[in-house]
Amino acid sequence: MPAGSEVPLCEAAAEGRVSDVEELLKAGADVCEHDSTGISPLMHAAKNGHALVVSRLLEAGAPWNAVDKAGRCAGDYAADNAHQDAFDVLLNAGITAELILGAVERQSKKKGEATNKSYLDERVEYSEDRLMDEESKAVMMAWESPLMAAHAKVVCSAGGDILNVGFGMGIVDTAIQGYEITSHTIIEAHPDVYARMLATGWAEKPNVRILFGRWQDVIPQLGTYDGKHCYKA
Ligand SMILES: C[S@@+](CC[C@H](N)C(=O)[O-])C[C@H]1O[C@@H](n2cnc3c(N)ncnc32)[C@H](O)[C@@H]1O
Repeated sequence: MPAGSEVPLCEAAAEGRVSDVEELLKAGADVCEHDSTGISPLMHAAKNGHALVVSRLLEAGAPWNAVDKAGRCAGDYAADNAHQDAFDVLLNAGITAELILGAVERQSKKKGEATNKSYLDERVEYSEDRLMDEESKAVMMAWESPLMAAHAKVVCSAGGDILNVGFGMGIVDTAIQGYEITSHTIIEAHPDVYARMLATGWAEKPNVRILFGRWQDVIPQLGTYDGKHCYKA
């Protein structure tokens, strides 16, 4: 039995059947219904590189950042299988969602509404194999290295100018440095992480440009990029 075949929307998404996906959605299919392996229609479409199906599912309300049992989102499925078009559609959906959330947050602040203590105001700590926030929750762990290496391979596949959002432990950035690229821009918002970047010589690397700030706030300083990578929020 092929993956996803017990859920018609998963099956149509996996096979890239755009009109069937549209029909099923029109008929009321649940855009979030995953198959017995925990993979959603969006993940099936991303895994198989069906960018148009990915767009349709996002328009129908599929959450771009939902994860499977192993903590992998649709973007991971697209990146792991080198489907740049599907990856870009998901990345754009993520950026749009962040911009909207950012605008709502700014509006709330203007109105004086209470907001949670921001991660960016907390101290973070590095240990040998992880980066932890104040509540001892892991922001990044070394075991994610193979995934980061795969991401770097995809984003650097055409060389040129590369953008990474979120330095963390510098795993993906170290991998990106292993490729023949023209420039490497890194956006990092956390002061402690930024301090670590400076202390470990990232500002002196000849092709590296660091933009310190939230990506939402440094957009005017950005150029155009041949490969883009963004942390998973
Ligand atoms: C999961 S870590 C990234 C790990 C990185 N990919 C690596 O290979 O080590 C996320 C990073 O994004 C940073 N970050 C969080 N919010 C951000 C924002 N709005 N703009 C830029 N960076 C942000 C965090 O401080 C953290 O360093």
